[in-house]
Amino acid sequence: MEVVVQDLELAYGDFVAIKRLDLTIPDGESVVLLGQSGCGKTSTMRCIAGLESPTGGRISIGDRTVFDGASGKVVPVFKRNVGMVFQSYAVWPHKTVLENVSFPLKMKGIARADRRRQALEVLEIVGLAHLAERGASMLSGGQMQRVALARSMAMSPSVLLLDEPLSNLDARLRDDLRVELRRIQTERGLTSLYVTHDQQEALALADRIAIMQEGRITQLGTPEQIYGSPVSASIAGFLGVTNIFPIAPSSTPRSLELTDHDITLRSTYPVPRTAASVCIRPEDITVTLEQPTDRVGHDADTNYLSGTVEVAVFQGASIRCKVRTDSGLPLDAICAPPAVGTFAPGARVSISIDSDRVKVLPNEAPVSDIPQAVAA
Ligand SMILES: Nc1ncnc2c1ncn2[C@@H]1O[C@H](COP(=O)(O)OP(=O)(O)O)[C@@H](O)[C@H]1O
Ligand SMILES: [Mg+2]
Repeated sequence: MEVVVQDLELAYGDFVAIKRLDLTIPDGESVVLLGQSGCGKTSTMRCIAGLESPTGGRISIGDRTVFDGASGKVVPVFKRNVGMVFQSYAVWPHKTVLENVSFPLKMKGIARADRRRQALEVLEIVGLAHLAERGASMLSGGQMQRVALARSMAMSPSVLLLDEPLSNLDARLRDDLRVELRRIQTERGLTSLYVTHDQQEALALADRIAIMQEGRITQLGTPEQIYGSPVSASIAGFLGVTNIFPIAPSSTPRSLELTDHDITLRSTYPVPRTAASVCIRPEDITVTLEQPTDRVGHDADTNYLSGTVEVAVFQGASIRCKVRTDSGLPLDAICAPPAVGTFAPGARVSISIDSDRVKVLPNEAPVSDIPQAVAA
């Protein structure tokens, strides 16, 4: 069911954790709330679930208002029909897998045979039907999270809220379960809000990503939009853009003056009037071993620099290297291994960056541009 959050505000004492937040989760969609630790993701989720008392705003699930600050209407947690999965494995260790999953159905007064059938059905979906009779304490972390997921799905919730459910798992298992979750989500058409600080997870699991910073949504879009066109340097940095350098206000696209380095770059992007930075993805920097014929400077489309390798890490298909330009600019590049020779520390290299890869973004998202948000 569609979930609509409007003008939500939550304060813990004097501290305002959520500021006039607007967010819609369309029916059957997966929205991922992505942001650094402490930005207010869990608080937002808890407000939707009914576990916090917001200081203002409205929340509706389907056509039912579950919170309205103006009228004082508050629907309690157990009447909201939301499913929740948390970071910690919230399973009952002394019960079997089947008992864990069917327990909420029992609370709902569903007859024994139906409980069993429904529980087995969701266990099938999460790939645990064969372990139905096993004691929950005998499971691995990944299996416990599957049980928690099955239990919350068994209730056929109007919306599934998942708060960093994979972050306690080891890397391999996390990757597997992420793919599995996406499959379940798309097959079942679950309406879900997934909270994470991990950009890879957000890109993999979202129909739409909402970037959250300091209690506000600062950008909303599809994974492709968010990854391809972050609206600020701080969001770009969060999405794996490692080369971010502030520019002087006098900069023009043909001559971007970096504040902390004696170097100018060329870009095809307009320069915003607010404090801004140059943002370059590591994979957009080409590094090759220096040849006598290599040039330095700019032409219409490309920036050419020369420098020295500081560190190079072999990653199989690519090499990640830190290079320092002769003017002292540290750059992080991901590039193809050289055909001949190696990027040993100290090796002289030529660096080229296409000017359409040199993004210029305001340091922070301008409040007036924030989608759906109401300017203060
Ligand atoms: N019960 C609470 N009392 C006071 N401050 C809180 C409480 N819960 C969270 N906070 C604060 O609110 C902010 C947002 O917290 P939270 O929603 O947990 O962030 P996230 O889930 O994004 O890491 C943080 O600064 C946190 O310290
Ligand atoms: Mg949290």
